[in-house]
Amino acid sequence: QLMCEVGTGNGGSIGGISWLPASLSKLLIKGGTVVNAHRQERGDVYVEDGIIVAVKPNIKVGDEVMVLDATGMPGGIDPHTHLDAEFMGTVAVDDFFSGQAAALAGGTTMHIDFVHPVNGSLMSGFEAYEKKASKSCMDYGFHMVIRHWDESVSKEMEIMVKENGINSFKFFMVYKGTFMVDDKVLLRGMKRCKSLGALAMVHAENGDAVFEGQKRMIELGITVPEGHALSRPPMLEAEATMRAIRLASFMNTPLYVVHVMCIDAMEEIAKARKTGEPVVSGLVLDDSKLWDPDFITAAKQDFRYVMSPPIRESGHNKALQAALSTGVLHLVGTDHCTFSSSQKAFGIDDFRKIPNGVNGIEERMHLVWDTMVESSQISVTDYVRITSTECARIFNIYPRKGAILVGSDADIIIFNELRNKSKISSFENQYEFFQGKVEVTISRGRIVWKDDELKVAPGSGKYIPMPPFGFLFDGIEKTDAKLISSFKAPVHRFKSDV
Ligand code: URP
Ligand code: ZN
Ligand code: ZN
Ligand code: ZN
Repeated sequence: QLMCEVGTGNGGSIGGISWLPASLSKLLIKGGTVVNAHRQERGDVYVEDGIIVAVKPNIKVGDEVMVLDATGMPGGIDPHTHLDAEFMGTVAVDDFFSGQAAALAGGTTMHIDFVHPVNGSLMSGFEAYEKKASKSCMDYGFHMVIRHWDESVSKEMEIMVKENGINSFKFFMVYKGTFMVDDKVLLRGMKRCKSLGALAMVHAENGDAVFEGQKRMIELGITVPEGHALSRPPMLEAEATMRAIRLASFMNTPLYVVHVMCIDAMEEIAKARKTGEPVVSGLVLDDSKLWDPDFITAAKQDFRYVMSPPIRESGHNKALQAALSTGVLHLVGTDHCTFSSSQKAFGIDDFRKIPNGVNGIEERMHLVWDTMVESSQISVTDYVRITSTECARIFNIYPRKGAILVGSDADIIIFNELRNKSKISSFENQYEFFQGKVEVTISRGRIVWKDDELKVAPGSGKYIPMPPFGFLFDGIEKTDAKLISSFKAPVHRFKSDV
């Protein structure tokens, strides 16, 4: 419950969106519980100029401080989004303002988006994304996609890491003819990532096999969206996941597998103890809507469910939830990449032309709560870990982000677990969920979402640089040394033989 009413004061309004004046820089959240991934405790949180300066019981403040009577937890961090993304001949509909406004409404205070190179240049790609992100209203970071290999890419990777705040590079093992890289590029990229302390990420599906699978569908006359799922079964996701894991182990560098969608891929990650990211669509949906006996409903709905890897049949989602609850999978993303129905209709006669992608940036926090906490699969502290803290740790911005600790950015959500404002179940949104648990979103000490209203303007978001050599690199040198000494024995024998 909120005690104090917050007006828009000396703030302003743009396009019907009002925001609070920056002078409201002192804030106390009191009388509740502070929930972190490591523990929850009774306590108050005092914030000045966007930074948490005290976390303890019974903090006393003067009249000039705004007071919220509530329980707080760290704002969500979405590790996987595609705002304003150019993909499959079109551009995703959510840009850095509309997508972020949705995120803030859903209790997410930071996201990490994927920068694509422009004309082969990482720097040009970075500059293009700086421009796209200039309308941001929340904090964001960038991963960088590697699509080909040459000396200049290798040099630019170093610049990206050392000067541009990028500490992760993504390799697509699929989308033949556009984004896909082969094992040679993947290996060179992994080697370079390792030397720079950057995390290699993969979209794991066997692109050559998917291409064959698609041809097979078309030859059979299957052009409807069901063909999308049928052309790229779990075994192709598992094969690429296994291959990427083996190659990363061979290079002895950490690996992050994005959007893990099936049991088969999850089991490869479990065996190898690599980092795996399920996305909300894979956790809560299944392919039953694609096979709706009412053809009209199915045909219309199908397009909305098309993403890669595909949403699998029922059972995979439950297994991914279980893997998340036991720590086999580590954090939840969305892969938010939205297209309008007219864009989805590019594939009306050929499923291969449907722009791939689903939504989730607004729904993630509520869906993970409903699916994982309300079902008693995880605790509230685990909820904070998988929606926020683990992402901050992996991408090396913890404890600035992902925690309510002294010195952290004051990215806090006021979450009312008893409140279910309204059930969302519409044609536009394929998820069924209760919204409204996130009552207030605070970004760097400012109330940016309250009373179902966005109180922030475009341009107020901030780029968060992410430094290299995160904790996943701990111990790599030691295993390298062990590996090299295991080579020495045969080398010595060979030398003494001659
Ligand atoms: O279908 C998807 N996943 N669209 C976004 C691009 C990607 O592969 O992550
Ligand atoms: Zn080049
Ligand atoms: Zn992907
Ligand atoms: Zn993606």
